[in-house]
Amino acid sequence: MQKSDVLLKKPQMNSLGRTLLRFWNSSIGKKLIVAVTGLMLVGFLVGHMAGNLLIFQGREDLNDYAEFLHHMLHGWGVWFVRIGLLTAFVLHIVATVSLVRQNRAARDSRYAHDATVQASGSSRIMIWSGLTVLAFVVFHILHFTVRVDSQLAAMKDPGDPARHDVYGMVIAGFSNPLVVLFYIVAISLLCSHLSHGIASIFQTLGLRTVKTRAAIRAVGLAVSVVLWLGFLSIPFLVATGVLKDDKGAAANLSPGHVQQSPLAEN
Ligand code: HEM
Repeated sequence: MQKSDVLLKKPQMNSLGRTLLRFWNSSIGKKLIVAVTGLMLVGFLVGHMAGNLLIFQGREDLNDYAEFLHHMLHGWGVWFVRIGLLTAFVLHIVATVSLVRQNRAARDSRYAHDATVQASGSSRIMIWSGLTVLAFVVFHILHFTVRVDSQLAAMKDPGDPARHDVYGMVIAGFSNPLVVLFYIVAISLLCSHLSHGIASIFQTLGLRTVKTRAAIRAVGLAVSVVLWLGFLSIPFLVATGVLKDDKGAAANLSPGHVQQSPLAEN
């Protein structure tokens, strides 16, 4: 075979590649991707909220939990979760944008005009709430994971200075009212996004029928309200001074100190 033959030969796609491409190109394939990745992201949010609520148990419990997350599977666990989350997040956004463009193209075509493909008001809100959540996640990761604020980055657990003080960082992080306001707006939009999104997951999976419609709506609303209350309770209680870190650092250093719930300390 000559060199020019090799260059001219089109790369052959194997059958798995063709199946995946056909799946991606179909509208139902993309909807399934949005649904499954959405489900994974909701699972993460429930776990993340439950973990964050340990802040009400006190510094030691929250910092123990953060330390466990960073050390599970010899430090690899957190990276598996990060890669899984990032993949789900990117696929969720790319498939949604592609579906919206596909629907818009169908709507713009005179012959393909069909009420079922028109973007509804709620789907337009979904795009804007989704974009706000994207901006929030970038801000949030810079805030609490990358810790671009050197003061937050330098905080050490007074009971164990070898580890980061996630408890103190969260309370200090919410000492800025503008940050709290941004969290309130973004998490409220996230939860409105979820109340529509969770019902859509059931619809895509073919579980929404006339009989189950009301129950599914209630589940979507209930999960969103629990997440909204669980996440926002933390910045709200810090901003109102109920959850604070005034004597925590000094008390932890004193010998024989018994860790108490920060709410009980007030
Ligand atoms: C007020 C509510 C929230 C609090 C107090 C909070 C707290 C935290 C903290 C302390 C970390 C860093 C953990 C560590 O490195 O030890 C973190 C990471 C993270 N949070 Fe949140 N979070 C909140 C809401 C959210 C929401 C609503 C989302 C998603 C929309 C989210 C997504 C993430 C992600 C993706 C990470 C990075 C995980 C990693 O790669 O390490 N968080 N959060």
